[in-house]
Amino acid sequence: MDEKVTLDPADWSEFRQTGRRALDDAISRISGLRDRAVWQPVPEAKGIFAADVPPRKGMALGEIYDGLSENVFGHAMGNQHPRFWGWYMGAGSMSGALAEFLAAVDGSNLGGGSTAAIGMERQVVRWLSGMTGFPQDAGGILTSSGSMANFTALAVARNRKAGVDVRREGIAAIDRPLRFYTSDQAHSCIQKALEALGHGTNALRLVPSGDDLAMDLSALERLVREDRAAGFTPAVVIGKAGATNTGAIDDLAGLADFAAREDMWFHVDGCIGAVLKLSPKYAELVAGLEHADSVALDLHKWLQMPFCAGAVLVRDRDAHRATFAAHPDYLEEKARGLAAGEFLADYGMDLSRPFSALKVWMTFQEHGTDKLGRLIDQTIALAQHGAARIAEIGELELTAPVPINIICFRYAASEMSEDGIKALNTEIMLRLQEQGLAIPSDTLIRGRHCLRIAICNHRTEVGDIDWIVDEVLRMGREILAERTAA
Ligand SMILES: Cc1ncc(COP(=O)(O)O)c(C=O)c1O
Repeated sequence: MDEKVTLDPADWSEFRQTGRRALDDAISRISGLRDRAVWQPVPEAKGIFAADVPPRKGMALGEIYDGLSENVFGHAMGNQHPRFWGWYMGAGSMSGALAEFLAAVDGSNLGGGSTAAIGMERQVVRWLSGMTGFPQDAGGILTSSGSMANFTALAVARNRKAGVDVRREGIAAIDRPLRFYTSDQAHSCIQKALEALGHGTNALRLVPSGDDLAMDLSALERLVREDRAAGFTPAVVIGKAGATNTGAIDDLAGLADFAAREDMWFHVDGCIGAVLKLSPKYAELVAGLEHADSVALDLHKWLQMPFCAGAVLVRDRDAHRATFAAHPDYLEEKARGLAAGEFLADYGMDLSRPFSALKVWMTFQEHGTDKLGRLIDQTIALAQHGAARIAEIGELELTAPVPINIICFRYAASEMSEDGIKALNTEIMLRLQEQGLAIPSDTLIRGRHCLRIAICNHRTEVGDIDWIVDEVLRMGREILAERTAA
């Protein structure tokens, strides 16, 4: 007989040693973040990635770890650093990281089965339901991402509003084509979801937003009226609790009323702002969320859980399940034994599902919702402080209101063209990034280019915000002087 193959360590004590070293190094890395570059370009010739085929023979774990320490861990995205504010990223947490390790050791697949892990996910979904004002028996699951949470909810909404059995007959059987409505500030994942669901981009009506960049409800009413008259079925209104660009929040209560009047499904993309429900000061901003038919959340953003941790909640649990449940011969539900209980895979696309609930559960257990709510308020206070400082400086310009924790601004000395402003602010952004000083990202607000800092970071302090305002001003002047001299 051939030598027995197993993937367990040949030497458990060596594994223990490498594991301890990895934990110690991780603690040093994260506790010393402030002294490190936020981000560094990855050198081209990183030998570790040169091989085009995997090794035929393995190597010792300690040696693998040394290679990783040298070549990989120093070249992370940097979103854990207190001066990372690009896009909209959480900064992670150590207990979240520990949870990821423990979840992998537990090893459960959360597609279905009678396990403690599944019980934990159900509990976490109930917690999220309570938090957002959904009923305790709402449908819901954790998803890989906010994009998948939105996709999942829109699939349920579509099936409910189609008027035909879409699972059996497909969307071609829908009599009057469905129309979906969201504001021109919506995240691109909404469009991607509708494309993947077979409706196409034309089915998504982008409703203009007002000066506050929230959806203009009268424009929505007009579009819905026009579409009905033209033979379409207005099916779903998608509100935003926090637009990606600026954090703008739609009038969710108004949208809920409108959707009810028009017999439409009301979905909320709450990936950024649904968790405002925890905020002692700002929960009112998302009043009306509790009336939605479905909501998408992203716990890896403001609540800092390690990637990925999305979640979807659907008020009508039966509608949710009816969209995804599938039980072939090899997945029959049983009254007893390991396969007892409802499969979580019946609420989404994935059959194999990770034990993400553990990092969610551990984060809530460790910090509690009060502290998480205060963290949300802290980041908003930082953004308001930054916005107030920017407003006082003549060469800096706010390009959008700052309702929550995102500041859109730019260096714009007088008499610069829009192209010139874009080139200069892009250069500021790239210098900040390439020098490892800070990570802002950039965007366009109504066609005007600007820097964007999303303070979704539990490590950022007021000194960091003062510093970035001063640094953008200093760099703007410096680059302008360079250009004038050239
Ligand atoms: C409002 C909003 N919705 C959806 C998403 C997509 O989330 P994810 O990146 O987790 O797929 C984002 C991402 O930033 C977002 O800001």
